[in-house]
Amino acid sequence: MDNDVERELRRKKQRQIRMRQKQQQLRRRRYMKLGTYCVAFVLAVIFVVRGVIMPVVHSFGGSSPEERVEVQAKTVQADPNAAVRQPLKGQGDLSKATELTPGWHDDENGRWYQNADHTYYAGGFQEIDGTTYCFSDNGYLETGWITKGVKDYYFDDDGSYNPEMRRKMLALTFDDGPGQYTDTLLDILEANGAKATFFMQGQNVGLYPDTVKRMVQMGCDIGSHSWDHPMTLKTIGLDSVAKQFKDTDDALIEVCGQAATVARAPYGEWNQDVIDTVGKPFFMWSLDSMDWSYRDAELDYNEVMNGDLTDGTIILMHDIHEPSVQACQRIIPDLVAQGYKLVTVSELAAAKGVTLQNASYSDFWDSSLASGNVAGYNGGSDSLMSSGDGSGGESSGDESSGEADYSDGSEGEFGDGADAYSDGGEDSGSEYTDGE
Ligand code: NI
Repeated sequence: MDNDVERELRRKKQRQIRMRQKQQQLRRRRYMKLGTYCVAFVLAVIFVVRGVIMPVVHSFGGSSPEERVEVQAKTVQADPNAAVRQPLKGQGDLSKATELTPGWHDDENGRWYQNADHTYYAGGFQEIDGTTYCFSDNGYLETGWITKGVKDYYFDDDGSYNPEMRRKMLALTFDDGPGQYTDTLLDILEANGAKATFFMQGQNVGLYPDTVKRMVQMGCDIGSHSWDHPMTLKTIGLDSVAKQFKDTDDALIEVCGQAATVARAPYGEWNQDVIDTVGKPFFMWSLDSMDWSYRDAELDYNEVMNGDLTDGTIILMHDIHEPSVQACQRIIPDLVAQGYKLVTVSELAAAKGVTLQNASYSDFWDSSLASGNVAGYNGGSDSLMSSGDGSGGESSGDESSGEADYSDGSEGEFGDGADAYSDGGEDSGSEYTDGE
């Protein structure tokens, strides 16, 4: 009896132990399952975020993977104007089907060119079968005026580059300010997509700090015209010259954060010692508006519009005179309407292939460049592509050449041609009625 009861008890105990073990096992399995689910869930979340959400966010933020490809490709190549080979992938290329054959293709957005390696040209110039074309960032053929850097290039209706079409450039320069009319002048420039160069007197800079800041924001050249317009830099001694320009730079840095990058001597009175002391490129002019003398908007207007507006001309005006600014209300839009691009002196130099030196510049005419008298001229001014079309053909300009080419004979080369210029007859010392 006893034995039976004991056996029964033992079996019961064993059953209980086994059940407990089984429960533990089940619990362990449940935990493992849960753990697996958790890991799977986390992985799924990562996958969704990286694969789906990020690309969407990026495409809204403007830096899709394809653009990154383009940027990389661009940094590799030497010519910033040249097109890149864009792979046919990504959201932007849905209309460009990969199965198409190499060559020109048209779709609802325009013409594009497919290469044998399944890429298309985008974002710059590309020569195909001897003709240079321009492709938009989306890879479509562009026509009309295209701006790259400081230069404009013209592409005919069939997309081919037309080297005969050259946008003439002029540099408007304004002396003796800033003054009470300068801000109005900036309004006019801005409204017409134009820029100018301001040769300012240091003593006026602190009076119009916001105006000077605005010049910088608009991309105008910040020029120094000495502190207080002494007569003349050639005779006041080089220490005084240095101080005149150092003080002006300090005033400029104070209001706009940068020193003058270019300079003009009061009365155009300079010599090489003066330039070396100041250490900036000096600018004269090739067209004097005579506004300092006329003080009449109509006369100012006629003097400029009837003057020699050869490509590369530097025009002298004064923003301290109200009639001068009034004249600009018409001069600036009229020049733009006539197809001129109004740029700063440094942009003009860059566009003509000139690396500015501590020298004096009066104009950037093709004839002057060709004569070898322009310091820092690198030759072949505007090659479209580094490899591109013949070097000589463009700088010597088939275009303008016709008549105006040698119009600059009179130019007071180097050496202080200053005397040849307008201001000579000034009398009243009090006001700045000088030629510049
Ligand atoms: Ni002046």
